[in-house]
Amino acid sequence: MKALVALILLVQLPIHKAVPAAPPAPLGCDDPESEAAAEAAVNYINGHSHHGYKFALNRIEDIRVVPQGPNKDIIFLELDLLETKCPILSPTPLANCTVRSFAEHAVEGDCDVKLQKVDGTLSVIASKCHSHADSSEDILKVCPDCPLLARMNDTEVLETVSAALNDYNSKTTDSYLRLLEIGRAKIQYHPGHVVVTEFAVGATNCSAEEAKANVGACQLLPEDQSNFGFCTAVMVKAPSQDLQVDCQLYGHQPGVTYTHPGQDTSAGLAPSAVGVTNHNLGIFHNNPVASESSSSEILRSMLSAKPVAKRAVAEAAQHDKVPRPVGFVPPPPPCPGRIRHFDI
Ligand SMILES: *[C@@H]1O[C@H](CO)[C@@H](O)[C@H](O)[C@H]1NC(C)=O
Ligand SMILES: *[C@@H]1O[C@H](CO)[C@@H](O)[C@H](O)[C@H]1NC(C)=O
Ligand SMILES: *[C@@H]1O[C@H](CO)[C@@H](O)[C@H](O)[C@H]1NC(C)=O
Repeated sequence: MKALVALILLVQLPIHKAVPAAPPAPLGCDDPESEAAAEAAVNYINGHSHHGYKFALNRIEDIRVVPQGPNKDIIFLELDLLETKCPILSPTPLANCTVRSFAEHAVEGDCDVKLQKVDGTLSVIASKCHSHADSSEDILKVCPDCPLLARMNDTEVLETVSAALNDYNSKTTDSYLRLLEIGRAKIQYHPGHVVVTEFAVGATNCSAEEAKANVGACQLLPEDQSNFGFCTAVMVKAPSQDLQVDCQLYGHQPGVTYTHPGQDTSAGLAPSAVGVTNHNLGIFHNNPVASESSSSEILRSMLSAKPVAKRAVAEAAQHDKVPRPVGFVPPPPPCPGRIRHFDI
């Protein structure tokens, strides 16, 4: 592998040398150019994610630009994202989505994204993300009474979702709703025993009345009529008993589809969601439109980009040895960039 990377570098170096431009100043993580690339990356990631919630940018960790020729760059981004309250199927634009607070048990996403910029136009070639909920210890330190994320296959969570959906369907005069997936759930034990769940739903071709006769025949509406929505349900189990359900349907959104993760989603559990507290953003996306390369090629080029960046840093460090006039304020370190929401 090392030999292969070295070989790629050897092959690539003369090409880089042939570009007559002066070495560009390294891009800082908070530069407008970096932010534009990050925005394109985040939009791409949300556009290719099928479960859970939309993610928003929290911080640009690192950026590396590898010139490929005149007006052509490859850009490698490392991004920290945070889960928002907007379900992935929601039509709300990301800019209007609230990031979930730290105390609500935040979920962080880490992404590596490769983009190309040709004549000023950015396109994502590949992205690799994974996400994880903040540790319980972190939250309990700040908020000892905050309920934590529960596993989505928890018996009480499944029970609450099913009771909530039955309750909604027994009262609605509109379409009978089917569960698509559980988004997140929390169980509180003090002062009362409360189960809070959020789940995505889809309208079926049955009225609630028709569903009573034969629920098995009720199918999600076909793609050209699909109507998705989202429910929150709060079940109080002690000291008293109570169930509150609130569902909102988005209306038909052309082009928006729900990808079934497996054969049986009747329980609202994607196979990847069994036993975990949050949906993983962990899919490796390869943009078939922009990509001329296989995923292994991307990994190789990510590896081979590092030495280039290191060399740039080393050169910059040497320049710093030049004596500076008195009163010189060194610029802030270019990366990582500013935190937009909170540190996790
Ligand atoms: C998003 O926010 C902007 C600015 O606050 C507002 O004008 C717009 O109506 C909002 N859009 C949605 C879909 O909520
Ligand atoms: C819903 O669609 C299914 C499959 O196409 C069909 O068998 C069923 O009769 C439909 N139900 C209603 C109420 O139209
Ligand atoms: C949830 O899934 C995990 C992992 O598959 C399993 O160990 C656990 O027993 C499941 N919990 C319930 C309540 O089914």
